[in-house]
Amino acid sequence: MSKEAKLILEDKEFALPIITGSEGEKAIDITKLRAQTGYITIDSGYMNTGATKSAITFLDGERGILRYRGIPIEDLAEKSTFVETSYLLIYGELPNKEQLHHYSELLTRHSMIHEDMKNFFDGYPATAHPMAILSAMVCSLSAYYPESLNVFENMEMQATRLLSKLRTIAAFSYKKSIGQPIMYPLDHLSYCANFLQMMFAHPSQPYEVDDDIVRAINILLILHADHEQNCSTSTVRLVGSSQANLFASISAGICALWGPLHGGANQEVIEMLHEIQTTGMKCKDFVAKVKDKKSNMRLMGFGHRVYKNYDPRAKILKQMADLILGKKGIKDPMLELAQELEGAALSDPYFIERKLYPNVDFYSGLLYKAMGIPINMFTVMFAIGRLPGWIAQWKEMMDDPDRKIGRPRQIYTGQPERHYVPIEKRR
Ligand code: CMC
Repeated sequence: MSKEAKLILEDKEFALPIITGSEGEKAIDITKLRAQTGYITIDSGYMNTGATKSAITFLDGERGILRYRGIPIEDLAEKSTFVETSYLLIYGELPNKEQLHHYSELLTRHSMIHEDMKNFFDGYPATAHPMAILSAMVCSLSAYYPESLNVFENMEMQATRLLSKLRTIAAFSYKKSIGQPIMYPLDHLSYCANFLQMMFAHPSQPYEVDDDIVRAINILLILHADHEQNCSTSTVRLVGSSQANLFASISAGICALWGPLHGGANQEVIEMLHEIQTTGMKCKDFVAKVKDKKSNMRLMGFGHRVYKNYDPRAKILKQMADLILGKKGIKDPMLELAQELEGAALSDPYFIERKLYPNVDFYSGLLYKAMGIPINMFTVMFAIGRLPGWIAQWKEMMDDPDRKIGRPRQIYTGQPERHYVPIEKRR
């Protein structure tokens, strides 16, 4: 097969190299396009644009495949922990016993935040969305670790610090929002157990960590840990490409994740189900509403830019929702409603034709809700999960000797040149 694509422009023929990935995906390399032809490409929403080569995550949306460093997501969800998966994403290989022990110890050692940072929490109103606090706090970490401004030194230490502290910041912001005292991390607990302890323990009572919930949190975080060049990850890479420090880059990624079309969808799903419940609307009527473009509504938790098949993460979460809720003896009418709504959408020609399936956010919110995690913390949970992916992608970019600052071009559609009109002569 030819290793070149031919482009004919104004009767001239140009040869463009073809790049093939390790799973056979193909790209036309247009790196020299403008220099050779004077043309650029336009690709709204980057639907066809590969921003980078990457060895971290493989995703095949048509076949519903997701692998981290080659390992299927189903395997990791069943057998790994979030800490081990984070190591795999960031360092490229599963750790051996010694490496995992050392990494877990480092994460334990760095779980506290500077005492002065606690004052920041007091400055926010109780109604503040925790995602606003999370992004501001993460950026503020660069003020406490000024060595992070030199992005090529101590890269791994900054990454470990951040991975450890993000759950502490998240839990502190929740405690603050409900007016309870902050609970410090405890060194004898694992990463996820420690997070639950900081979220739900009280100084006045002993708190027992539930092993089933710890396992469920591990799986949820693993499923969210990376998803190649999505909106927030691309943001982290773009900000990082200017050599802004890790904390600033990840803080920008947290903001990008917040939107309802991205990580904010898990909160929107529960709000949508709540609305259907309280208005007593029938699922088929709700489906009719989201199909009507004039309603400006979408079926939240459905559809994906890349998956044109059942999202493999949603498949695992659907089974988990049945298992966890069943095991805990929770009969959640919202789960039944979600299942009914899914059935109504999946049998509807509108959703079939457009290949719209449940995505990771459709069932994750129901699980978080069953664990007592408040709705406005759902996207924060997504951020904690996605952090190792952001770090791995940032690190991969910084390690790349061919990296370049991200700087797209545009096609200008404004006024041609005209002269400045003094104010007294303006109409
Ligand atoms: N409900 C109703 N119609 C939809 C939906 C939906 N959830 N998603 C897409 N469509 C329709 C859309 O109206 C369009 O129809 P038409 O061809 O008639 O104009 C068609 O399907 C293609 O949609 P699109 O907006 O061009 O697709 P996209 O790839 O740009 O958007 C998406 C992907 C995820 C933003 C979109 O599917 C969506 O808004 N879903 C709801 C929000 C959501 O659940 N987001 C979480 C995504 S998974 C977590 C993550 O990775 O962030």
